Amino acid sequence: MNAKRLKIAVTRKLPDAVEARLADLFDVIFNPDDVLLDRGALIARAREADVLASTLGDQLDAVFFAQAGDRLKLVANFGAGVDHIDLAAARAKDIIVTNTPSVLAEDAADMAMALILAVPRRLVEGVRALEMGAFQGWSPTWMLGRRVRGKKLGIIGLGRVGQAVALRARAFGLSIHYHNRASINPHVEEELEATYWESLDQMLAHTDIVSVNCPHTPATYHLLSRRRLELLQPHAYVVNISRGELIDEDALADLIAAGRLAGAGLDVFENEPSANPKLMAAPNVVLLPHMASATVESRLEMGECVIINIKMFADGHKPPDRVISGIL
Ligand code: DGY
Repeated sequence: MNAKRLKIAVTRKLPDAVEARLADLFDVIFNPDDVLLDRGALIARAREADVLASTLGDQLDAVFFAQAGDRLKLVANFGAGVDHIDLAAARAKDIIVTNTPSVLAEDAADMAMALILAVPRRLVEGVRALEMGAFQGWSPTWMLGRRVRGKKLGIIGLGRVGQAVALRARAFGLSIHYHNRASINPHVEEELEATYWESLDQMLAHTDIVSVNCPHTPATYHLLSRRRLELLQPHAYVVNISRGELIDEDALADLIAAGRLAGAGLDVFENEPSANPKLMAAPNVVLLPHMASATVESRLEMGECVIINIKMFADGHKPPDRVISGIL
């Protein structure tokens, strides 16, 4: 395929440098207004392009692929998560799907670690108290949080991001426990001094802080169900920078309100951009607007990944970040 004539439809505004490079290489339709395209607009773009540079928020489901026409050959997603893409429907039409899996792991892990510190140490509550004029001077008993050092961190999904979280957590004196479908490479396990739990239920019952770091797939929807959240100890905290759908948010809010869980730090929600009002109202919950990968560096590198995937495809090679299943 001739790279110069390959037509790319980009669904959202990307960093300027990324758009400039795309425009150098290809014939590109941009979305300068950065408005989320509705289904009709998305399908119209796809029908006139060889490549769709999509991102989180674009609903690329079976209906989309059925109506996307025959020209579309590659969906080059700007982002690691692909739960908004029906991979089977894409495969059925021989459309390749790529993502940007490796470049955002470190920044995402920083955000998970920030939440692991922020919730037990009540950082946001402290800022709010100061802003509201509630600081009367130091007191032996005011604004007491819980010590992080010595606690057990249970990581659900010890992949790229999970391992980066584990490395940071070790430096803060947490011990590492993890649940995956299978145990990881023993050398990595040894380096992290990580304990593998085949049973997620058993791990949850034994950990003090849970960090959710696995992808959202049909199999992991509400992985932290009400039943599983109830297995956690009352002093436990839940941190999630992956996808909101992994946790039954209502159950989480109820258990926190009832004092059956100590708090939560969430960068993602079940119904983005809306955040659960019960969680918004809880003092011991820190909510962030899906910003774990929001650094200039990550977003430029994600753009670079998208360009490399498209360029390899244009040159007749297999793009490096082909997504085979929803598992990252
Ligand atoms: C992803 O990459 O899927 C993140 O959630 C957005 O950066």
